[in-house]
Amino acid sequence: MTKPRLYSGMQPSADSLHAGNYVGALVQWRKMQEEYDAFFSVVDLHAISVPQDPAELRQKTRRTAAQYIAAGIEPERSTLYVQSHVPAHTQLSWVLNTITGFGEASRMTQFKDKSSRYGSDGTNVGLFTYPILMAADILLYQTQVVPVGDDQRQHVELTRNLAERFNSRFGEVFTIPEAKIPADSARIYDLQNPESKMSKSGDSPQGILWLLDEPKVLQKKIMRAITDNDGVVAFDRDAKPGVSNLMALYGAVTGSTMQQITDEFAGHGYGDFKKAVAGAVVAEFEPVRERALELLDDPAELDRLLAVNAERANEVANETLATVYEKVGFLASAR
Ligand code: TRP
Repeated sequence: MTKPRLYSGMQPSADSLHAGNYVGALVQWRKMQEEYDAFFSVVDLHAISVPQDPAELRQKTRRTAAQYIAAGIEPERSTLYVQSHVPAHTQLSWVLNTITGFGEASRMTQFKDKSSRYGSDGTNVGLFTYPILMAADILLYQTQVVPVGDDQRQHVELTRNLAERFNSRFGEVFTIPEAKIPADSARIYDLQNPESKMSKSGDSPQGILWLLDEPKVLQKKIMRAITDNDGVVAFDRDAKPGVSNLMALYGAVTGSTMQQITDEFAGHGYGDFKKAVAGAVVAEFEPVRERALELLDDPAELDRLLAVNAERANEVANETLATVYEKVGFLASAR
């Protein structure tokens, strides 16, 4: 029996992934790769929709891939590759551009947020067509399931609409994918500002836990995390965002449920709780950090692994692209 197809990706936008990426994406991916035929990409094409320093982008791409592997994505089991290694992404993206309405693309809330933040001079057309490239990523692999954060739900909805539109106009080609959004308890917020999601662009460096932080640094940030005054370890995102966030983090790395954590720390203060969280996070991140640094010590071997995986991705992607080209009426090249 063939396994259902899964696709997801992350931008190579920092030297290190953070706890939000780890808990919200990598941990989920690692679990799902057993049940699914999974494709995971480092989406460098998406990354250049905002200005990037070329040398840094190359480095961040390797570092992101190394952290996927270090966190347990197995490049022999899953297909882990760099998006720009598969030309079909940009090729399909062009075709999808031509069936996307201008108004439809204009309604994407992430584009509206980003373009209002950067202003019209700072906003390039790539940022506008970003969701269409993402649709190409997903549809090329005949994907059934797309694990993504809540902020990507609308992009997956657009992907479904484009797939259905293409299929009804040109004939059945694409599988209609479904988004899989992780549970609320897999969402990690900024430790200093627990009402906003942990983000590489967060304005408090102390609020972000990097996967590649040294243990002492992780410990310090967790011990200084914002909590509240009632001293009870209970999960309530509205009334107790700081404590709930630490519980989510602890739950993600220990496997405990929120109720089990409440029971475990009944009668203890936040000091004890934070120490336990710090210990558990360090125990989880430290081996990942070591493995990632080891992989980055041998960039030639890492690049070789990515090339082998890209070959696998190209095979699947090119098959879909060939069908699309045929359906839209492109003359086949005679050689
Ligand atoms: N846009 C996604 C994000 O920022 C990253 C992404 C690109 C992606 N292509 C994808 C996620 C395809 C899932 C499937 O998180």
